[in-house]
Amino acid sequence: MTTPEDITALRDRALADVAGAGTLAALEEARVAHTGRKSGLTEILSGIGKLPPELRGPMGKSANEARRAVEAALTARKEELEGEELGRKLLEDRTDITLPGDGRPAGALHLLTQVRLEVEEIFLALGYRIADGPEIEDEYHNFTALNVPQGHPARSSSDTFYVAGHPHAALRPQTSPVQVRVMETQEPPVYVIAPGAVYRRDDVDATHSPMFHQLEGLAVDEGLSLAHLKGTLVHVARELLGDGIEYVLRPHFFPFTEPSVELYVRWTDRHGRPQWLELLGAGMVDPEVFGFVGYDPERWTGFAFGMGLDRIAMVRHGLPDLRLLFESDLRFLEQFS
Ligand code: PHE
Repeated sequence: MTTPEDITALRDRALADVAGAGTLAALEEARVAHTGRKSGLTEILSGIGKLPPELRGPMGKSANEARRAVEAALTARKEELEGEELGRKLLEDRTDITLPGDGRPAGALHLLTQVRLEVEEIFLALGYRIADGPEIEDEYHNFTALNVPQGHPARSSSDTFYVAGHPHAALRPQTSPVQVRVMETQEPPVYVIAPGAVYRRDDVDATHSPMFHQLEGLAVDEGLSLAHLKGTLVHVARELLGDGIEYVLRPHFFPFTEPSVELYVRWTDRHGRPQWLELLGAGMVDPEVFGFVGYDPERWTGFAFGMGLDRIAMVRHGLPDLRLLFESDLRFLEQFS
């Protein structure tokens, strides 16, 4: 005969097994053993009906209480074990957020591109527009229409890179041919700039490279004078290099401008020595050039200039060598990103 003490003993054993279960699997075993169909408690409960009527009430009550206590303990222990397991998994699968990622470094504009965009902005604000021309240029636009006479040294293959097998085509040695192309397609007034690469068989040194960049400018209007040219150049130089710059305009000669000048600015070279560096050539458009493009030289006057973009970068950043700009060495380039 089952007694209330048996129920208490069953319950206590069950509670002890539940408390001692160290894993979810062990807990499941304890659940099946103590509350499953073949467990002692279940047997007692299903046998209640066969007990003498006066025992059914108390026995049923304590068996049900025992079962509820075991079930509550099972639920509580299950939560405990699941919590432990989650903690363990989190620890094992922990992502180390301090490890460096494998993201790509962000790109940046090349120093020269930055300088070109900046100069473009300055001229756009003055009302200029941007024009473009081919880098492989014909003899007419490179020289003839710019009033460069036959036999001029710039026309020779010791100064200019000609295209093999094409004696009248050359890599443009200056951006000035774009002046001619613009005037051929447009009536005055004209206010354009034309940035781009140019090529020369120069001796290579720290301030020369066989490929470099110029920014051509051309203004044609009524009543333009050298004073407008100077005002424009000095404004741009100050915008780029600061109000305190020292500059000098020196007379010079170009076949396509008359009179012609060069703008020099003071800068400090890598040895800390102050130097003058030629930033650009310029002048009043020669009436001969207007003749080639059909502009009336009695009505229109104009000025033109061609500045070295690489040299602006050089002066601004005190670069020891212009050629650094073309070597694609990231240790150099990253300093300007
Ligand atoms: N093309 C000249 C040079 O490369 C510069 C220049 C441009 C001079 C326009 C006058 C006018 O040296």
